[in-house]
Amino acid sequence: MKELKIEATLFVYDSIEELDPEVIDLMNEAIAIRKKAYAPYSKFLVGAALLLDNGKIVTGSNQENASYPSGLCAERTAIYYAGAQYPEAKIVRMALTAGSLKTVTNTPIPPCGACRQAISEYEIKQGTPIEIYFMGETGKVIKSNSLKNLLPLVFEKSVL
Ligand code: THU
Repeated sequence: MKELKIEATLFVYDSIEELDPEVIDLMNEAIAIRKKAYAPYSKFLVGAALLLDNGKIVTGSNQENASYPSGLCAERTAIYYAGAQYPEAKIVRMALTAGSLKTVTNTPIPPCGACRQAISEYEIKQGTPIEIYFMGETGKVIKSNSLKNLLPLVFEKSVL
């Protein structure tokens, strides 16, 4: 038996102001779309903004449903739209923000496991890393240089 250690490096920014201007703009797009989320059941609003290598910005928010599992997270709403509209484009980075209507969310909220799996599909498909920035409504922002840091031992197409 051998121990296998898995390490991930993330970068923590004290606030949105510490980011590069281009990233602040992208995060502001995520904040704007978060406010339009359709989340009447959880009251938890999530916004995602993607910068593509063709210069387009694609945004998405979570879309809930009375049949709860039929809803979709903000990240997948955005990446599936990007995949549908711009199948040749690569995703350069994504900015994510989440907040509850019931309380102030001031810690960075990472994408859920299902979204990490979905993002990994596109990172592997395009062959270049996707930068991921995530935050709450306010406070610190965490950056990952690749989805790989958030989902080690990914299940991927090469095993099929
Ligand atoms: N949600 C997202 O949009 N992204 C995530 O990564 C985690 C959760 C949404 C799904 C649901 O509408 C609400 O947040 C509460 O789980």
